[in-house]
Amino acid sequence: MRRIEKRMQMLPIFGYNNYGDYLKENPGEFNHLFSLIEINVTSFFRDTQVWNYIATQIIPPIIASKSETEPIRIWSAGCASGEEIYTLAIILAEALGIEEFLARVKIFATDIDNDVLQQARKGVYNVNTVANITPTRLNNYFNPVDNCYIFHRHLKQNIIFSQHNLIKDAPMSKIDLLVCRNVLIYLNIDAQIRALARFYFGLTDKGFLCLGKAEMLPIKSTHLFTPINLQNHIFTKVPKPEVDQYLLHQSLGTPPLN
Ligand SMILES: C[S@@+](CC[C@H](N)C(=O)[O-])C[C@H]1O[C@@H](n2cnc3c(N)ncnc32)[C@H](O)[C@@H]1O
Repeated sequence: MRRIEKRMQMLPIFGYNNYGDYLKENPGEFNHLFSLIEINVTSFFRDTQVWNYIATQIIPPIIASKSETEPIRIWSAGCASGEEIYTLAIILAEALGIEEFLARVKIFATDIDNDVLQQARKGVYNVNTVANITPTRLNNYFNPVDNCYIFHRHLKQNIIFSQHNLIKDAPMSKIDLLVCRNVLIYLNIDAQIRALARFYFGLTDKGFLCLGKAEMLPIKSTHLFTPINLQNHIFTKVPKPEVDQYLLHQSLGTPPLN
């Protein structure tokens, strides 16, 4: 509300009803409104201990569960300007080696906000933004250009960027690790439940879900995921036969499938 009120002051328009009318008459205003209310704060290796846990306890079992040629599919949902995606790319490249990373890994990077996705696609960051990255990683995975650092182009080939609304669009499929951090916190409980039901379908049977440090499963979604590490907010899927399919489809907002 604070942000919408600020926008109304800028225009200036007084009262929500008048602003509603203005939106109807000027659809372009939706873009302004949207960039204003989205919160895109992010950073490389945000909550370092979570990434250490993922690198040591989650990625190795994913790799071990597959044959040497099988693809590894990762989804960063609500990726903002890309720091989370490139963090994932770095830990996967370290686990597999560059060649295998290029041959096997697909990272789906999605966000509802097209402006931040454009930034993510570019993968260009200033000196302050990369301050969290160790000099070795910076040297291995980024090219310095002027006062900026650009993520290596050839590793970026394995990242697929797309605009995607977690609560409405179909999920990515066969995902081994779904990282959706600091996104659910901005959604109301119903929207969280819808997103989590989609995540359930998007993940493989043994897939992992990582939420943000301030995020927990709403009670109505606890039948879908079991915590495997509560400290780092990491969950795995409850096996399908144990899940109440009616509840699951109700959470999606769609009728049960036969
Ligand atoms: C605070 S950022 C989190 C970035 C990153 N995941 C992290 O933890 O550092 C939240 C992101 O969620 C995105 N977002 C909000 N609602 C969304 C929705 N319904 N579908 C997809 N992305 C959404 C916003 O555009 C924003 O970029």
